[in-house]
Amino acid sequence: METTRRTVIAAAAAAGLTAATVGTAHGATVRKPVKELFGKLADGTKVHRWSLQNGGTRLKVLSYGGIVQSLEIPDRHGRHRNVSLGFDTIEDYVASSPYFGALIGRYGNRIAKGRFTLDGKPYQLAVNDGENSLHGGDKGFDKRVWDVEGFTSGSDVGLVLHYTSVDGEMGYPGTLRVKVTYTLTRHGDWRVDYAATTDKATVVNLTSHVYWNLAGEGSGSIYDHELSIAGSRYTPVDSGLIPTGELARVAGSPFDFRRAKTVGEDIREGHQQLLYGQGFDHNWVLDKGSTAKPEHVAVLRDPSSGRTLRIATTEPGLQFYSGNFLDGTLVGTGGRVYRQGDALCLETQHFPDSPNHPSFPSTVLRPGQTYRTTTVHSFGA
Ligand code: GLA
Repeated sequence: METTRRTVIAAAAAAGLTAATVGTAHGATVRKPVKELFGKLADGTKVHRWSLQNGGTRLKVLSYGGIVQSLEIPDRHGRHRNVSLGFDTIEDYVASSPYFGALIGRYGNRIAKGRFTLDGKPYQLAVNDGENSLHGGDKGFDKRVWDVEGFTSGSDVGLVLHYTSVDGEMGYPGTLRVKVTYTLTRHGDWRVDYAATTDKATVVNLTSHVYWNLAGEGSGSIYDHELSIAGSRYTPVDSGLIPTGELARVAGSPFDFRRAKTVGEDIREGHQQLLYGQGFDHNWVLDKGSTAKPEHVAVLRDPSSGRTLRIATTEPGLQFYSGNFLDGTLVGTGGRVYRQGDALCLETQHFPDSPNHPSFPSTVLRPGQTYRTTTVHSFGA
């Protein structure tokens, strides 16, 4: 897109590489992902960090939680910065991370009271967010060590991450075999392909929880970032952030991001939904619906650096969370404290609490079926 061969080479030079080792539109060789020891869990389990780069994007991923620890992209002058919140040590991630950069499963977002019924059978999940289950329970996929392999394929470079969730883990039925592929394309796009199979009927809703600040991690508030979301409706919630079931129109409300506006423009309006979320923490109903191929759904732009993020997905929903619960108690990779609104998340997903809303797109996965979703993050400046 806006990444030209010139900026690719400039980025390569900055990284101490020659042009020949970097993927270009003409299909030059790409560098293999590099693996290093990042740290150890309390029980001695090793956690590795994988570094990969392509088309001007540099990505660092942990085997713990499939966490994006760092994602560097150039600004309009070709200057790289890490645009994703994270920590320097495994201890920090284990101690208390609000899902920084992590893979989320089995169920991204909330399930009311951690309960649902499937084929007439009731299930009780681990409850970890008041009376509700959030992001897969207290030990979701964000806190598991994944098997990771690096690959190069044509002009792409990437990682394949595997995790097997045993029958009954966090209360979910069925052994779920999960495969997530992170690909950096020659254009520097970061593509995430999710796949899963089960041996019993279950529910699945996988996503990624990167906290974006396109001016740079630790640089302050994202309220001046401009955002557009191709969704005419959203799913209003109750005080526990569980959808009421209504698909409300965004028109005439702070939730109208159909035309780009800054995150901060309406965030202080006295709207009941903003009070419940302490800002934006809602699922947008994407106008395109579920699609076989990823389709464009959102653009985020930082006017100061010129950096842009475009999101395309196969998913029908998008959780826009404006970093409301960051409260100045965590210090990130740049040594700076994260405060409310210092980053935002754009989590492509099925709608929250779908197992309890038959009118929402289904999240049920049955034996013999393969769950597949894709989200593509494209960067520019
Ligand atoms: C999700 C939720 C938020 C919050 C964050 C993590 O985005 O929707 O309410 O829990 O994760 O802090």
